[in-house]
Amino acid sequence: MPNDAVITIEGKAYPAPTLVGSEGEKAIDVRHLRAQTGYITYDDGFGNTGSCLSNITFIDGDAGILRYRGYPIEQLAEHSSFVETAYLIINGELPNARERRHFGDLLREHSPVHADMGHIFEGFPIGSHPMAILSALLNSLGCYYPHLATNRPQEDLANFEEAAAITISKVRTIAAMSYRKSRGLPYIYPKRTLPYCENFLHMMFSTPYEDYVATPEVASALNLFLLLHADHEQNCSTSTVRMVASSGANLFASVAAGVCALWGPLHGGANVAVIEMLESIHAEGDDGTQFIEAAKSGKGDHRLMGFGHRVYRNYDPRAKIIKASFEKALASLGIKDDPLLAIARRLEAAALKDDYFVARKLYPNVDFYSGLIMRALGIPQNMFTVMFAIGRMPGWIAHWKEVAANPKNKIYRPRQIYVGPSKRDYVPMAARG
Ligand code: CMC
Repeated sequence: MPNDAVITIEGKAYPAPTLVGSEGEKAIDVRHLRAQTGYITYDDGFGNTGSCLSNITFIDGDAGILRYRGYPIEQLAEHSSFVETAYLIINGELPNARERRHFGDLLREHSPVHADMGHIFEGFPIGSHPMAILSALLNSLGCYYPHLATNRPQEDLANFEEAAAITISKVRTIAAMSYRKSRGLPYIYPKRTLPYCENFLHMMFSTPYEDYVATPEVASALNLFLLLHADHEQNCSTSTVRMVASSGANLFASVAAGVCALWGPLHGGANVAVIEMLESIHAEGDDGTQFIEAAKSGKGDHRLMGFGHRVYRNYDPRAKIIKASFEKALASLGIKDDPLLAIARRLEAAALKDDYFVARKLYPNVDFYSGLIMRALGIPQNMFTVMFAIGRMPGWIAHWKEVAANPKNKIYRPRQIYVGPSKRDYVPMAARG
């Protein structure tokens, strides 16, 4: 092939085939490299490694492009809903009217959790982090639906539609219950009559004596937030889901692992870290100038949270959409003069013209404004990452299916370059000093 790469090692040339994705993304196929040469590739953080072929989501990080199943995120944000987009991501096509109704019926049917699950909640101490509860409870679904969690991919795939609907619907119920538990509040049951987002807000904020009724603006802001998080190709949590799925593990176990991966501050926890950063800047009376200077050290706590992205070297398209809709949502919620919003705007403006951020192509990512939206909707801070998990569920499910349905699936098993001590003899305790 004219475009095949040639890898020369120790003076010997080895041809390596190349492949090109449907959007022109180029790769060198090194699957036979070790067998042929004895060498492996080293790519700490996997920034240059294509771990799979996937037809779910396309991102061009340099151009700031994001598409689910070929549809631009901007069009979906304007015309679609979270539930319709979830269907698209999982099934590959937008639903027709009958398919959409059927999907909605399945979600409604599966919105309550088994009464026994309430006992699991009881076992957690008050104040437990909702992400820990969410992961544990999602994994436990395999105990309530053992016929959907056989760990035999062909059997699990045969029941995929039901398992997917259970996961998308119950993640919202479990999330709301975990919040109620963390606050010591009584659980609120889902209502069959309410759409997905309104139902979630009802389970979060209604009381036994008074229903919370979401305004259309609040419901649509939540819809948009979830839709924008629905998939993002091989991010840390999705790669985790795929890795677990590659061993043949069932859908519930795989997405529970995704929740754990999402929890960290460099991934799904960044929306919390942004608010904490804004609060601390506000508490210190800084207008953001000092923080920007500290962030330029690029170290640990002083990173400008909500800025930078492994893939986007341009404005994250989700951040653009969320920022634009934010103003509208704030106005309808009657929120004016939020001091944290003012700081966020100043930080963004300052960073976008600062050489440090410009040279490193660090732009706002989706989390820069999403935490502020959640806050405006009344979602407590320890639930922000849970909200991300609800949104990301369709993506995790679609990726699980892609792995489980791949007849050529190989267990994900990277190699390493060992740099530890060479062989040495066991030292008895008395001789250890
Ligand atoms: N503030 C200050 N400096 C930064 C930042 C930041 N937010 N992000 C990267 N840098 C610097 C970094 O210090 C390094 O500088 P130098 O070249 O001088 O050593 C350079 O930019 C490259 O950084 P990196 O850590 O090699 O980049 P990465 O691709 O490994 O990390 C990231 C991507 C998202 C982890 C990182 O940008 C970051 O920590 N951002 C803040 C956390 C955040 O907002 N995370 C949410 C990501 S979007 C949600 C999601 O998809 O999960």
